[in-house]
Amino acid sequence: MKNWVYAKLDKISKFDMYNISEKNKDSLKLDANENYVLKKKFILEIALQAAKDTDLREYPLDQFKELYRQLAKYTGISKKYIAVGNGSDQIIELILSIINKGQRVTIFTPTFSYFINRCKFHDLTVDRVPLSRENNALDKGEFLKSAKRSDIVYICSPNNPTGNQFDKQPILEIIDSLKDKLVLLDEAYVEFADYSLIQVAIKYDNVIVLRTLSKAFGLAGARVGYFIANERFAQIFRSKIQSPYPLNSLSLTIASIALSQFNYVNKTVKMIKDERKRVFDQISRIEGIKAFESNANFIFFESHNKYNAILKSLKKERLAVKTFGNVEGRMGCIRVTIGTKNMNDRFLESIERAVCKQNV
Ligand SMILES: Cc1ncc(COP(=O)(O)O)c(C=O)c1O
Repeated sequence: MKNWVYAKLDKISKFDMYNISEKNKDSLKLDANENYVLKKKFILEIALQAAKDTDLREYPLDQFKELYRQLAKYTGISKKYIAVGNGSDQIIELILSIINKGQRVTIFTPTFSYFINRCKFHDLTVDRVPLSRENNALDKGEFLKSAKRSDIVYICSPNNPTGNQFDKQPILEIIDSLKDKLVLLDEAYVEFADYSLIQVAIKYDNVIVLRTLSKAFGLAGARVGYFIANERFAQIFRSKIQSPYPLNSLSLTIASIALSQFNYVNKTVKMIKDERKRVFDQISRIEGIKAFESNANFIFFESHNKYNAILKSLKKERLAVKTFGNVEGRMGCIRVTIGTKNMNDRFLESIERAVCKQNV
């Protein structure tokens, strides 16, 4: 049958979608920027506690209240400016769903591919401003030129996949020049970075700061995202745009307990930042590889003609990383998550072996 539904499905089936890599049994996951420094036992204990405290026969009510209370405490921002979602992916999806077809979005590239794909899915026109090939810096002038002709602006900082957080002052100037645009600031990796612009979201009525518990808090499987925005946007989102029970009681309770134990989470963040420096220094020493400075829990690097040899070696040793190939002039790109010291050593040894073999 050929009707409008199938015509639409035909169109949708051709979209690039977010590639979810298959998990190989026994493989070390360094591909999705999860936090493996956080002990599994810590999460397990929280999950068991949450299971005991939760009655799954009931719709979640008090659990939402508690999560908002904990998020307000953690961020230092009143809960009236906060809204939650089923991962920040779902928040992005819902925000894009209220934007009119054909409206224009400015992004820089490379950036979070899910966001770009969802813009296309919602029939938005995407204008791309390339980051500098040399160090992934943002050209403020070029970005503003495009942004002024757009309706929405997406700034991911620290940026996925490049890892860098952009200088604060130019980003503030960009935001200040775009008061009639919707500005989405994605801070998924902010715990690993130098500063946050969370306060900006309550100062302006057009800025939304996206956050997640999937990265530093090690709760990717619980699917808890949130954002900070002006009170009106946050309240309308909560009461009209979001579904009534977007998160389940277990995830809500797990998230609240984890937030209340930030001290421990923060220790793992510090360890990851130390390891990030060590891994960066070591990758940078390998001839023919260029690593980019990172303010996130992963490192993005160009491996040029070593790409295939490195991938082969990582695959053989069951180390999963995110592979990009050539990205706008950057050659043989790979993004690796910073894991435990042991995971990072295995990764470093594997790429060193691959490069050595190739040089023989
Ligand atoms: C920049 C960025 N934003 C948002 C997300 C989505 O996070 P969540 O797990 O909360 O959906 C990710 C996940 O990789 C990300 O890298």
